[in-house]
Amino acid sequence: MKKGLFITFEGADGCGKTTQIELLKTYLDKNNIASLLTREPGSGDLGLKLREILLHYDKPIADNAEVFMYLADRAQHTEYEIVPFLNKGGVVLCDRFIDSTISYQGYGRGLDINMLENLNNIATKGLKPDLTIVFDIDTKIAQNRINKRCDKKDRLEEEGLEFHKKLRTGYLEIAKKNPDRIKVINADDSIENIHKKVMELFLEIKK
Ligand code: TMP
Repeated sequence: MKKGLFITFEGADGCGKTTQIELLKTYLDKNNIASLLTREPGSGDLGLKLREILLHYDKPIADNAEVFMYLADRAQHTEYEIVPFLNKGGVVLCDRFIDSTISYQGYGRGLDINMLENLNNIATKGLKPDLTIVFDIDTKIAQNRINKRCDKKDRLEEEGLEFHKKLRTGYLEIAKKNPDRIKVINADDSIENIHKKVMELFLEIKK
């Protein structure tokens, strides 16, 4: 039985969510609130192997093969890390989860959204986050950030502007469909201002 709090962070590449998840983790640590900072893909041993393939395999990967690898990572991660931590009553902060699959493989690659929702349910055995924060940002600004921060882009970052525009649209639509669970924050703002908004959402859900 789930007792903890499950919060996921979502957004297109370059949206700044990783900085924000770390700031919330620091707050939780300072306040002695037990928390697990984790991510998809690539937590744990199997996850790291899948992450390496998903981000750096240098030959074509079929869309269905890609989605099954993300789902395999999710099934493993949910069962062995997320659920046990929630069962102990902790706060799980996860950098990407089910909504990344809907956005990237659904809106980005064009796979059927209903099918992906069903597959997500199988991988997670129905586990849904209590709160999902989507960091929304203009696609060109996000792309500039990626270009500045890395010499070598991964497979997904290499996809062009049009692909990344679809992800943004996707996230906003998913948020509209799930207004209770998903909150959108404007990520074209200072790190401090965005952190304040994250904290407001966290304190509200924690009540
Ligand atoms: P990141 O950890 O640097 O965000 O990289 C993970 C990449 O994988 C990112 O481009 C988003 C992508 N991704 C999907 O396409 N589908 C998924 O289900 C997940 C979790 C991530």
